[in-house]
Amino acid sequence: MAGTGSFAGRVALVTGGGAGMGRAAAVAFAREGARVVVADVDMAGGDETVRLIAAEGSEALFVRTDVADAGAVEAMVHAAETAYGRLDCAFNNAGINEEHGPLTDCTEAQWDRILGVNLKGTWLCMKYEIPLMARSGGGAIVNNASVVGLVGSRGTPAYVASKHGILGLTKAAALDHAKEGIRVNAVCPGAIYTPMYVRREGADPEHDARIAAGIPLGRLGQPEDVARAVQWLCAGESSFVTGEHIVVDGGETV
Ligand SMILES: NC(=O)c1ccc[n+]([C@@H]2O[C@H](COP(=O)([O-])OP(=O)(O)OC[C@H]3O[C@@H](n4cnc5c(N)ncnc54)[C@H](O)[C@@H]3O)[C@@H](O)[C@H]2O)c1
Repeated sequence: MAGTGSFAGRVALVTGGGAGMGRAAAVAFAREGARVVVADVDMAGGDETVRLIAAEGSEALFVRTDVADAGAVEAMVHAAETAYGRLDCAFNNAGINEEHGPLTDCTEAQWDRILGVNLKGTWLCMKYEIPLMARSGGGAIVNNASVVGLVGSRGTPAYVASKHGILGLTKAAALDHAKEGIRVNAVCPGAIYTPMYVRREGADPEHDARIAAGIPLGRLGQPEDVARAVQWLCAGESSFVTGEHIVVDGGETV
């Protein structure tokens, strides 16, 4: 499959590529011919994504990366350049959500960890991706926010703040780097069935059915639903779109 498809000749980098939406996006980019850099803190998950891509005859590289660590992010982008010589697309997707209580219960350590991975991590990724993209002649970045980047949600203040911040950062980056031919957009997923969703909601089909019943399109989202929006935002079809976000939530926030 390598060498054909709408992303043939391009290099895509996906953070948090070892599970969930990141894995779905990495596989989708590879199916369309991109060479993919899979970055994650979880080696087993990252290796498995690379194995899935290789099993389909495409090319991928795993780089163990904590996106909250500036040195690791710089090394991730350096590894992409060393392996593939360029960077055309990036899905800055790695994120965590570990709070389950009101703002007054959120500890300083939780706040720092969540903002560190979700918001600082997104900034660090763009900081190091953008110069390589510019040297590659331009590119497209998609940051993974959330519907709680747009509206509030109880019991998760640091996460909500981090996701609102990602949308602001997306607009700032889009303006700062438009002249270099770099577009920066975001996706805002709703309830998407991934390991993070299962950790948050539990593995209970009856609970899932109640959540699905509250979603206008009548089902939970799948990682591939988000991967398709990410691909569109990285493709030539969206070449006049920057600083925007696409909500992928089955109508939940409508
Ligand atoms: N699942 C949902 O319902 C939902 C909804 C809206 C937004 N999101 C956001 O979508 C993104 C992906 O979520 P998911 O549900 O696929 O999550 P997931 O937990 O299933 O997968 C996330 C991946 O990111 C990796 N990761 C975590 N911290 C990292 C770090 N510091 N550096 C590098 N990698 C790291 C994990 O190891 C994991 O492989 C996250 O940013 C999340 O906040 C999820």
